[in-house]
Amino acid sequence: MKILVLHAHPRLSASVVQRAMLRAIEGLDDVTRVDLYAEYPGMDIDVPREQRRLLDHDVIVLQHPLYWYSSPAIIKEWQDLVLENGWAYGPGGTKLAGRFLMSAISTGGPEQAYHHAGRNRFEITELLSPFNQTAWLCSMAWLAPFVIHAGRRMSNTELSSAAESYRDLIVGLRDGTIDPLTRLAPGFTLPPAFVEGISR
Ligand SMILES: Cc1cc2nc3c(=O)[nH]c(=O)nc-3n(C[C@H](O)[C@H](O)[C@H](O)COP(=O)(O)O)c2cc1C
Repeated sequence: MKILVLHAHPRLSASVVQRAMLRAIEGLDDVTRVDLYAEYPGMDIDVPREQRRLLDHDVIVLQHPLYWYSSPAIIKEWQDLVLENGWAYGPGGTKLAGRFLMSAISTGGPEQAYHHAGRNRFEITELLSPFNQTAWLCSMAWLAPFVIHAGRRMSNTELSSAAESYRDLIVGLRDGTIDPLTRLAPGFTLPPAFVEGISR
């Protein structure tokens, strides 16, 4: 499978965790990395180009730090402009059917904060539910997010090991040693048109 990693960090030079994740997947065949803030510093997203990129890949990864329980703004702008009615969803909008969507995020908060009784009151998959429903509307399968919690507080060894797990996941999905259908997010049911898309 071909993997498209759309990553967004508004201050990549100050990043620790996202940069470790990016380094871990650097140079992999059939893995395309796109730095959205570098390509579109004015957020002037080239819609036809982004749509072509989507069509050329099977797994779309949105990689970013969790900012205010969501994504940095350019991911939202990308969604708003690229996922057009009649292309990604709606009448005739079947271009993404049968593909896979996954979030790969880092958080400042520790794992135990992301529970109903924890400081952040919600599970990560609940906070990312707009991406769950975006995938569903586009007849895609939404995979369980990959999360590095509190990576800036990790030792170098711990962070390298977490980034290595990210690489293993990306490589496994690419090579088919990890079946993405076994990694659906908890509670996610495949949209009706997903199977038609996959057999295309
Ligand atoms: C504007 C902003 C908003 C943030 N919002 C959250 C948040 O909602 N939840 C959280 O756990 N961490 C939050 N953080 C912390 C970042 O997610 C964390 O520092 C980042 O994932 C670490 O990756 P980096 O080293 O690549 O920046 C926020 C940080 C910033 C600057």
